[in-house]
Amino acid sequence: MGRDVVERLRERVAANLRGGGDDKIARQHAQGKLTARERVEQFLDEGSFSETDALVEHGCTDFGMSAKRTPGDGVVAGHGRVNGRPVFVFAQDFTVFGGSLSLANAAKICKIMDLAMKVGAPVVGLNDSGGARIQEGVASLAGYADIFLRNTLASGVVPQISAIMGPCAGGAVYSPAITDFVFMVENTSYMFVTGPEVIKTVTHEEVSMERLGGAMTHNSVSGVAHFASPGDTECLALIRRLLSFLPSNNAERPPVTATDDPLDREIPELDDFVPTDPNKPYDITRLVRWAADEGDFLEVHEHFAKNLVVGFIRLGGRPVGVIANQPAHLAGVLDINASVKGARFVRFCDAFNVPLWIVEDVPGFLPGTEQEWGGIIRHGAKLLFALAEATVPKVTVITRKAYGGAYCVMGSKHIRTDLNFAFPTAEIAVMGPQGAVNILYREEIAAAADPEAERARRVAEYQELFANPFVAAERGYLDEVIMPRRLRRKLVEAFAALQTKRDSMPAKKHANIPL
Ligand code: HXC
Repeated sequence: MGRDVVERLRERVAANLRGGGDDKIARQHAQGKLTARERVEQFLDEGSFSETDALVEHGCTDFGMSAKRTPGDGVVAGHGRVNGRPVFVFAQDFTVFGGSLSLANAAKICKIMDLAMKVGAPVVGLNDSGGARIQEGVASLAGYADIFLRNTLASGVVPQISAIMGPCAGGAVYSPAITDFVFMVENTSYMFVTGPEVIKTVTHEEVSMERLGGAMTHNSVSGVAHFASPGDTECLALIRRLLSFLPSNNAERPPVTATDDPLDREIPELDDFVPTDPNKPYDITRLVRWAADEGDFLEVHEHFAKNLVVGFIRLGGRPVGVIANQPAHLAGVLDINASVKGARFVRFCDAFNVPLWIVEDVPGFLPGTEQEWGGIIRHGAKLLFALAEATVPKVTVITRKAYGGAYCVMGSKHIRTDLNFAFPTAEIAVMGPQGAVNILYREEIAAAADPEAERARRVAEYQELFANPFVAAERGYLDEVIMPRRLRRKLVEAFAALQTKRDSMPAKKHANIPL
């Protein structure tokens, strides 16, 4: 082995480890950000990282770029383990040309994506990039498109996760947008197609980076991001936690975790938890946590469309995706954002063999011109479509209201839900008593000597008929009316019974979900 070759290798490896140099690393730290390499090391199981393409350099010669070469070229890529399982990872290094995407570093990203697809392992991208590398022109755009294609082909095959850990502008936002889950770091990460300066020129709006595309904007307003963390370290830990619920690919089942939580644990608090008054709110996440192993619930999209709660729990050690109306927010009504949020989550779970628990207490779809003109018909149909299409085990529990179209949508028996349970407090009807009586008995109420007394009598009559689960149970639309305290046990038994379920879609190229 020639000494000079070893020496040259050492130098290049050292240069790769230095990234953009001490000054730029200090600037990154001063902003409260870790470097790309520190992020990768923190994210993966200790000592498990194997780097690929550490010596790759860009091939650009314009704008004096020949003299500006760094081994690795601004992206750290490779594979390692998370909780002992293989994961492929890339991290853009802002200290090298602002983490901008060259053709060479796009090729590094594509290489690990191709490998991840072959072995069936998740891809995690840690993004911190000024977008297309301006000096490379169309070559950089080609690099982006190469990544977008792979993101698309990998969708539904291996989980793809994006963390936004710095600015992400232009092309840098579209790869994350195609991936399954987007994480953002508060105060240091931004996503936008065009930044504040361009917006000012084109629309004369003045808006800060934070308000335009900061973590909370995308978590609570646009719904582009699913998770927000106060810092890099918390963000990386949260991605590890999410991965603990997911299979490595679509041919596997989600990983089983040992639990000491008794499978038949009763929940006495639940007997009186759901108010019988249909207008009284309660927090559905408490019910979800009571049912879950060790009370552990990883909520997804927590800050967006709070009227629908989605996330992951385990029952008897097996991951389950939860989709639940939230009576504590807008009475749990389904609107455009809730429908889109729910549909995307359901489709993820179905693609990756995660069974679904649907928890229902819904007064219907939100009325109003804003919703109708915004396309609630089209968007609400997404949730209906996704739940009808899903072939994973599906179990619905109606805790209280199941009114109208929302009854059909929220995992009714008729859209091939496997097991349907209801609490004794369930009310299943075309609409709530007040609305129904106003339509059915308008004339009788108007003609009565005491219209209010007549209305009250009719409401009571309607409630007597529909404010219970019996009509649905008599028809077999419900499989069982369960005592709330036995919820956990019932769910554990149901999902255990359904574990080997097989169902399929008719042969087709792909469905045409109403986008
Ligand atoms: C090359 C870039 C770069 C880029 C930043 N740098 N962005 N180099 N190409 N796109 C370099 C800077 O020149 C600087 O180099 C270093 O990275 C750090 O950048 P600063 O501007 O000093 O950092 P900061 O003040 O933190 O601002 C970060 C930033 C800003 C907000 C990301 O750099 C910026 O606005 N960059 C341009 C963003 C953009 O318009 N990208 C193109 C998007 S279009 P030195 O040597 O001085 O340290 C696009 C099309 C793809 O992506 C479409 C595909 C569909």
